[in-house]
Amino acid sequence: MTNKLERLPKHIGFIIDGNGRWAKERGLPRSAGHKAGCKTLSLIIKECFYTYNIPVVSIYAFSTENWNRPQKEVDYLMSLFKDYTSKDFLNEFPEVKLNIMGDESKFPDGLANSARETAVLSEKNSKYILNLGINYSGQDELVRAVNNIIRDGKKDIDRQTIEDYLYTKGQPKLDFVVRTSGEQRLSNFMLWQVAYAEMYFPTTYWPSFKKKELYNALKEFQGRNRRFGAIKE
Ligand code: FPP
Repeated sequence: MTNKLERLPKHIGFIIDGNGRWAKERGLPRSAGHKAGCKTLSLIIKECFYTYNIPVVSIYAFSTENWNRPQKEVDYLMSLFKDYTSKDFLNEFPEVKLNIMGDESKFPDGLANSARETAVLSEKNSKYILNLGINYSGQDELVRAVNNIIRDGKKDIDRQTIEDYLYTKGQPKLDFVVRTSGEQRLSNFMLWQVAYAEMYFPTTYWPSFKKKELYNALKEFQGRNRRFGAIKE
């Protein structure tokens, strides 16, 4: 299947959506949707890195607004994130650097510790990068960048300066954003990085987004004529 795909993104972003509706359709609790969403996440990450050799994958797992969900659901999600970023991460995803995007100060201790530890242990991995957005907001990322630029006394700020202060510093441009479940919004996802990215909004709920759906998404990307504001080729 893969050899038909010649032009692939170097950096792909996923806005995970539809876990709750997937569960509801099956008469299951929302937690079952999130659990199934975790399985899908592993599959998709592996496909992107090891089948398609896409070097950077960004995941929007939990926004700064998601704290408004019922406490029980938030607690469950935090425990899933903790398990996901634990030491097993390095066994499951060899050669992958884990880069957490988001304000870690609000993470429960268990998650903060596991995420930090795995980020440090995987720091030297340079082949693949997984940017994991937890308690993430694109606007907050820009505010953080501006504050750090001021703190460092930078002058004559240009685009490169801003990029150097984002979570994605030094990474390839975001080429392609996929949001599952049919919602057609960015919801504060990577607002700077998305500038020239192609967007794709499949109606599939995240837990059902599998190999075939990823292949179709990448095929769609391949068919897009990216001009970056220049004249049509
Ligand atoms: C979106 O579906 C899902 C979330 C906001 C939760 C986070 C994602 C996962 C648990 C998948 C695995 C990720 C990691 C990092 C382990 P929704 O609950 O908004 O669905 P709905 O719109 O149908 O209610």
